[in-house]
Amino acid sequence: MTTRTRFTLTQEQIPTHWYNLLADFPTPLPPPLHPGTKQPIGPDALAAIFPENLIMQEVCPDQWVEIPDEVRDIYALWRPTPLLRAVRLEKALQTPAHIYYKYEGTSPAGSHKPNTAIAQAYYNKKAGTKRLATETGAGQWGSSLALACRLFDLECTVYMVRISFDQKPYRKSMMQTWGAQVFPSPSERTDFGKKLLKDDPKCPGSLGIAISEALEDTVKHPGTKYALGSVLNHVCLHQSVIGQETIKQMEQAGEEPDVIIGCVGGGSNFAGIAFPFLQKKIKEGKKYRVVAVEPSSCASMTKGKLRYDFGDTAQMTPLLWMYTLGHDFMPPSIHAGGLRYHGMAPMVSHAHDLGLVDAVAYPQTKVFEAAVLFARTEGIIPAPEASHAVRAAVDEAIAARKDGKKRVIVFNMSGHGMLDLSAYDAYLAGNLKD
Ligand SMILES: Cc1ncc(COP(=O)(O)O)c(C=O)c1O
Repeated sequence: MTTRTRFTLTQEQIPTHWYNLLADFPTPLPPPLHPGTKQPIGPDALAAIFPENLIMQEVCPDQWVEIPDEVRDIYALWRPTPLLRAVRLEKALQTPAHIYYKYEGTSPAGSHKPNTAIAQAYYNKKAGTKRLATETGAGQWGSSLALACRLFDLECTVYMVRISFDQKPYRKSMMQTWGAQVFPSPSERTDFGKKLLKDDPKCPGSLGIAISEALEDTVKHPGTKYALGSVLNHVCLHQSVIGQETIKQMEQAGEEPDVIIGCVGGGSNFAGIAFPFLQKKIKEGKKYRVVAVEPSSCASMTKGKLRYDFGDTAQMTPLLWMYTLGHDFMPPSIHAGGLRYHGMAPMVSHAHDLGLVDAVAYPQTKVFEAAVLFARTEGIIPAPEASHAVRAAVDEAIAARKDGKKRVIVFNMSGHGMLDLSAYDAYLAGNLKD
């Protein structure tokens, strides 16, 4: 064997702490505001929807937060995840670049989402919660929370964006296998859902709408709390295991990345790989280019505005400081269902505003072109969401070829696409539209 391509860590090397970028921002992140008073909200304003231990994590000023043993024990089902060097892709692109990818598709649910689902279920169980309600787009988050609830013996109710519920039934089957109740959103179970269905019985739904339904369900049922799969500070915190492992694995590979890439829906897998590197950028003056990749059709960072906005369509959340297309923006029904969100995590938004992070956007045909190239060279069929990161990595490698200079690229392969094959069918048949 000539080139080492696989970099693995032992179970003992699963991170012991989560990393909190909030502690290291050169200027503080603007706080969430009460929509009526426009004053910063206190932790108690979130008490109806989150348990106190997670609210304290949401506002935690500490740089490092210890990961409970119970959570690390479950992480050990699939963590540490591998880092691979895509030598066949490099060859196909005839590039001097070295392309590495961190593969989060090895989790039982097939994506990075269990990193936070397990933590959220653990803290809810500890706080006495009986049931969790949530939303899901294409089902990656819902299936991850369903798994986590099963492992901590909690009930789980998932509002799944209707277009995905109808078009991509298999993650619904996963959720049901793990024991969750799944409803298409908008649904008849909430006042907000009923109102939308009255106006438009064929409403395809959106993540913003499904969040509103899950929130309404939560506040109406004692013993129920809400869980969010992205956007919030504590979710970005939990995902930091990805970047911490990647740093150790790049050391094994003996290379320092020039470019770090992740796709962005609400921002959590990007935060996961990027934030531990941003710490080095801020504290050690590293010159990494850190790139967030979004779909052109739902481009909150490259086309939206940085301002206070609601996290959901029905205006039930506090106002969050974020890049947004407007909370009533109805994204087109692209295949990367997990990227159809109008806003961006406040921490990712702030990092972009401070110039620590760049953002690019791609239409889905360009994304699938790169995903198919990746599948044909490296074997793994990427999730449509993760394929956005693949596209950006491929373009960085092509730019390196044009410059005639080596460039070390690392991207987060946030999930596999084995349950998204209808999207590949559409692309291969030439039916995919931008
Ligand atoms: C595989 C995969 N990657 C990325 C995302 C986008 O979410 P986030 O930006 O929170 O990582 C999703 C969302 O469902 C996903 O399923």
